Amino acid sequence: MKRRAPRNRTLICKETEVDRLSAEVLQVERPVSEKDITGKVIRGDMFEVAGHLPKGFVDLLILDPPYNLLKNYNDLTFKEKGRDDYQKWFQNALEVLLPTLHPTATIYVCSDWKTSVLIVPILEARFHLSRLEMPNCWRIGMGADSNCELKQHQID
Ligand SMILES: C[S@@+](CC[C@H](N)C(=O)[O-])C[C@H]1O[C@@H](n2cnc3c(N)ncnc32)[C@H](O)[C@@H]1O
Repeated sequence: MKRRAPRNRTLICKETEVDRLSAEVLQVERPVSEKDITGKVIRGDMFEVAGHLPKGFVDLLILDPPYNLLKNYNDLTFKEKGRDDYQKWFQNALEVLLPTLHPTATIYVCSDWKTSVLIVPILEARFHLSRLEMPNCWRIGMGADSNCELKQHQID
């Protein structure tokens, strides 16, 4: 097994936990209400699921998309793309999620140094960019300045 970096806090489930928790994970293949999904985890391709989600129900979106690197996420391999292609991919990801956002929603987007320069122009074109919260996390407000708290947030 690959040795974990000392600050890696990824949670690993035991077999028994996987069995118990899997039963609670939703597959969403048709429109669902807010009540259907509150407090649940949905497993699926975001591009397919997002269209089935209720409109305007998201107050806080934490988006941790694949960075523009070759990376194997178990059964899904994300391949590094050219700059334009990554920007198109990210733009599409954002577009499918937009209808789910409440007009005053806050968005945190996680990214690495190399990818953040590609996504910031896309976010700036759509949202009010509030501030850089962490070296690699941007906080974006959808509404006016007054909707955005300028406090330092710690994301652990
Ligand atoms: C940078 S990682 C984020 C990991 C996450 N923050 C965590 O702690 O598990 C990007 C994640 O996006 C997932 N992903 C990539 N494309 C996706 C898609 N189309 N729909 C849903 N998830 C996707 C990958 O499987 C991977 O888990």
